[in-house]
Amino acid sequence: MKLFDVYPLYDIEPVKGFGTYVYDASGNRYLDLYGGHAVISIGHAHPTYVEAISRQVSQLGFYSNSVKNRLQQELADRLGDLSGLNDYQLFLINSGAEANENALKLASFHNNRTAVLALHKGFHGRTSAAVRATDNLKIQAPINRGVEVTYADLDDLDAIRALLHTHKYTAFIAEAIQGIGGIHIADGKALLQVRQWCRETDTVFISDEIQCGYGRSGRFFAFQEIPDLEPDIVTVAKGMGNGFPIGGVLIHPRFKAWHGMLGTTFGGSHLACAAGIAVLQVMEKEKLIDKAGQLGTYLMDALKDIPGLVDVRGRGLMIGIELDSPVAALRKTLLFEKHIFTGSSSDPNVIRILPPLTIQKVQLNEFVQVFTELLSTTPAL
Ligand SMILES: Cc1ncc(COP(=O)(O)O)c(C=O)c1O
Repeated sequence: MKLFDVYPLYDIEPVKGFGTYVYDASGNRYLDLYGGHAVISIGHAHPTYVEAISRQVSQLGFYSNSVKNRLQQELADRLGDLSGLNDYQLFLINSGAEANENALKLASFHNNRTAVLALHKGFHGRTSAAVRATDNLKIQAPINRGVEVTYADLDDLDAIRALLHTHKYTAFIAEAIQGIGGIHIADGKALLQVRQWCRETDTVFISDEIQCGYGRSGRFFAFQEIPDLEPDIVTVAKGMGNGFPIGGVLIHPRFKAWHGMLGTTFGGSHLACAAGIAVLQVMEKEKLIDKAGQLGTYLMDALKDIPGLVDVRGRGLMIGIELDSPVAALRKTLLFEKHIFTGSSSDPNVIRILPPLTIQKVQLNEFVQVFTELLSTTPAL
């Protein structure tokens, strides 16, 4: 059987990883500044994580959501404590798209509406309503287009106010820092204003923290940089499981559950919870959220000294480096010659830096040195 060929692949195969490095079969070591799409939060093969998953799978890897699973409550308690969202309720699934899909469903159950307001350049996943809310027609199949979605710009608040006051939108969904769109920090005042209009019009405000959340920005959630912003729903995935598929929908207490409202076979399995709990333990013990903030500022300051860059932006360890020409060739050189993984974005001129939160200064220095040299010696890039 052939694999369905949807991914353009680099000719490289990591076979093991440790900390911020991955290794191929020949033993070559690669610095991981991308964490496999911002997924690796506590580093590859962290001993606490390996031990927790190994122990859990040897006891009970899975049973269904029709029986008690105390690990789900432990995960919820730890997540509430570390994020400060203790009064929210947690629904567990397996991926980011599923988190947003369920968030949009909850919104629609709540206000009985069907249209969605999303932002230009946003990315929310590949499932039906989530991909429709994603500003990229190319990845929407005709079957996805049944949901009515309007894409707006946060700097056109008049338009957003008018749209929301039609009272037809079930939800407004946005990333506090757009990831795939090229690392764009949403304007805090504008988001607060939209939040207010959502309240007035009973539109559900969904904060998609799948990429920018879980400590990456230097706060547990990137929206927490904006004082008093209180989303109705927060969606998480990626860093939550450090590679184990797990996602979560954090739901404001004013939303009431009823049996059968949402459901999943695999979501919240024993093994997924063990992974999720280990991630939170390590994040807390190693103070990774504060470190992400400090190291991000350190790296951005160093990058801003490099001549010729159009922009360096981001928060914490979620950084976009913008050049005045496409970065694909430069990223290939970084990977194949310098053995450094970086990320692309939907903007061809932007490199995304999303390393494990356990990265050290010495590794950031290594990158800055290599990057500076490359830019100065290869002007054609
Ligand atoms: C902001 C955001 N939302 C949702 C998703 C979808 O997550 P997943 O690929 O786990 O379905 C992504 C994935 O890149 C993302 O960056």
